[in-house]
Order: sequence, then structure tokens, then C-alpha cells
Amino acid sequence: MNRKEFITDVTLTGAAAIISPAVAHAGLFRINQDKKVKVGVIGCGSVSGVYLPHLSKSAFVEIVSVCDIKPERAKARAEQFNVPVYYPHIDEMLAGKSFDLMINLTNMQEHGRLNRQALIAGKYVWCEKPLANSYNEGRELLDLAKSKGVRIWGAPAVVNSPQFAFMASKINKGEMGKIAGAHAHYGHLGPDWSAFFYENLGGSLPDLGVYNITTLTGLLGPVKSVVAMLNILTPERIVEDKGKIRVEAEDNASILMEHQSGAISNIMSGFNYFDPYGHTGTGQDKPTVSVFGSKGAMHLIGYDWKPFSVELATIDHEEPQRFATDTRDYVWEMGASTVCESLITGKEPLINAEHSLHVLEIIEAARKSQAEGRRVELKSIFPYPVIQSK
Ligand SMILES: NC(=O)c1ccc[n+]([C@@H]2O[C@H](COP(=O)([O-])OP(=O)(O)OC[C@H]3O[C@@H](n4cnc5c(N)ncnc54)[C@H](O)[C@@H]3O)[C@@H](O)[C@H]2O)c1
Repeated sequence: MNRKEFITDVTLTGAAAIISPAVAHAGLFRINQDKKVKVGVIGCGSVSGVYLPHLSKSAFVEIVSVCDIKPERAKARAEQFNVPVYYPHIDEMLAGKSFDLMINLTNMQEHGRLNRQALIAGKYVWCEKPLANSYNEGRELLDLAKSKGVRIWGAPAVVNSPQFAFMASKINKGEMGKIAGAHAHYGHLGPDWSAFFYENLGGSLPDLGVYNITTLTGLLGPVKSVVAMLNILTPERIVEDKGKIRVEAEDNASILMEHQSGAISNIMSGFNYFDPYGHTGTGQDKPTVSVFGSKGAMHLIGYDWKPFSVELATIDHEEPQRFATDTRDYVWEMGASTVCESLITGKEPLINAEHSLHVLEIIEAARKSQAEGRRVELKSIFPYPVIQSK
């Protein structure tokens, strides 16, 4: 399909847009060049307090509704961000004021079910991590999206940072030589507001490890097998919504990944890590992602979700130097506004649902490896390299 055919294939009906499946999966899925993407936000808890200010400022977004099963939260967010309507249930949201894209900021365990409902209703979906609660459920959602002529994407947005782009380009151009290994870590003392982080299908891997797994697979490519150790270090917690709870999902994790390239990387994540930089990441000036090749060593300074620069030493310049120090254009909460921009401009985003599914498969494989005491092979892949370096 050429550009002219694409433009004529996009049919607009009133406020809502209809896009043919052929267009949606040709990678060109523009909703309307002149309009904003109408979004409905479901889940008005902690993270919505970061998403909504960002979305409100985006030139590509119009927030038409918010929803939460705790309706007082939806009401408060609607008032705070001038959102015309709020709903107490997804059924009412989907049947109510028309929108194009659902932004899912609910409890992790609810993601698959709510995303399915939105896709069935013909909505595009952006979902906080994880995209679904299992690899198979995620695969079904992608197939469902395809059959409905829409798309689904999932957090995190780490591949959008200039620091990721810098590291990827050094690797892709061969300047690091043969990549042998990499390490990444991210943890803190765990959220204290909601129990779901510690319940079955919660855990530090889909909440925190997911950032590092996305970064390392994004840099080094698909993983073919995984060995992991996971455990629960703090069996009881006190959280705001349920008081004293028993922890069911891992709060301490270490994963070893063999990439298809032969590189071996590892990530550590957990809810028992003292972290002086907390939820804002401000002031973290130590490396949290390191990549080692035969011609260079490279360290991402700060967290991959809040990077500040990249330190690089190579065979040609052994003295470490700092690059990619520009922090203006990237924030971790930008994934939803980025896909809205793509829906308007037709430019394919770097964030890719197959990549999210691969990350989900790694998390499942890590749990299987721990449960069965063995190395687990993976089946999924994703488009790699993430960034085409010239
Ligand atoms: N809080 C953060 O700093 C942060 C950062 C990045 C990503 N995330 C991710 O964002 C998601 C939400 O995390 P949070 O910290 O905002 O949790 P939260 O508990 O503060 O908020 C979740 C909200 O979703 C609502 N909800 C649950 N089920 C629902 C349903 N079926 N329909 C409508 N509303 C429903 C809850 O009532 C609650 O208000 C998680 O996937 C988490 O991993 C959180």
C-alpha cells in the first residue's frame, strides 16, 4: 500500500475514527491528522497522578473520560483535570462518551480482562505493565486487536529515551565489538498503598524488573533461555488498602538470560532494596545498566526509566566519557502520549507489543525456572534491532 492509497483508506465518521485492518497493520494507522486522539483513562490511583498531568499537556491527546471502581477517585481526577465525564465501571465507560484509545492504569491483575473488553469494543489500548497476566493471554489480545483492526501497546517506554538510543546505536554499529554480557538492577522497599503488588500475578518482576528486562532485550535482542531464582523475603506486609497481608508473589528476583546473539545478561529486582532515590529517581547518578563488549564498556547513569547520561569507554578512548546528557525529551510516563502521536502522524512507535510479550514470556519463564529448578527455553521473538542505526 502506498501513501496515497493509505490516506484514502482512512475513513472518518464524526468524532470516532474507523481504520481498516489493512491500514492498522501496515504500520500506518493514522486516526486523523487534524484531530487529537480521544482517550478514556481507567484506574485513577497513584500512577494516574503522573499520567494525567502529562496527557493534559499533550498536543495529540484529548481526555474524554476517566473511570475507577472507587468512583470517588474518578470524580476527583475528573475535577482536577477538567475531564468531562467519569464512570464507576468499564461497561459504562465503553458504552458512554465515545473515545479511541483506552489507557489502562488499574491493578496488574485486571489488565488482561479490561484490555480484552476494550479491544472487543473496538478501542485501541495503552496499558501499564504488564500488558496481560500471561504470555498466552497477551498473544490472544494481540490476535484480537488484529481481528478488530486496532492496536495494543504496553509500558514501559524505556526504549524512547535518548540514552537508550545512544547505547543501541553503539551496539548496532559494532563500536562495542562483540557483546558478551550485561547487568541491570532496580528495586526499592515496595509500594505501601495497594495489596495487588504482593498478590498472585503481582510481584517485583512485572512491577520493577520489567524495566530492566525491556532495556536489556531492547539493547541485546531476543532471549532464547532463562534461569532464575526468585523468593519472598518479607512474607507479611502492611498496606493502606487491606492492612496486614501475606505476600504471594516474588519480592526478590535474579534472572540470567541467554540472548540469541550469545550474550548473557542478568537483572536483579526486588521490594527489599534500600533506595535513597525513591519513586522520583532524582539524584541517582550511579549506573544501573551496564553493557560489556570486546571493544567497549558502557554504563547507563540513573535508572533506565529516569536516565541522565551514558558513560562509555572504548578500546580507542579508554578514558570514560559521558554522552547523551540531554534529559529534556523523555519521561517514563510518555508511552501513552507517544502512541497517540503515532496514531495521528502514522509514524510507527519504537514501543512494540511483540517486545512487551517477549518480556512477559521472560517473566513467566523466570517463575517456571524457580518452580522447577531448571533452565527454560523461550518461543517468542520481537522486531530487533529496536532502533535502526544508520
Ligand atoms: N504508582 C507508580 O508509581 C507506578 C509507576 C509506573 C507504573 N505503575 C503501574 O500502574 C498500575 C497501577 O498502579 P498504581 O500504583 O496507580 O495502583 P493504585 O492501586 O494506586 O491504583 C489502581 C487503581 O485502579 C483501580 N481499579 C482496579 N481495578 C479496577 C477495575 N476493574 N476498573 C476500574 N478501576 C480499577 C483501583 O480502584 C485504583 O484506584 C500498575 O500496573 C503499576 O505497576 C505504577
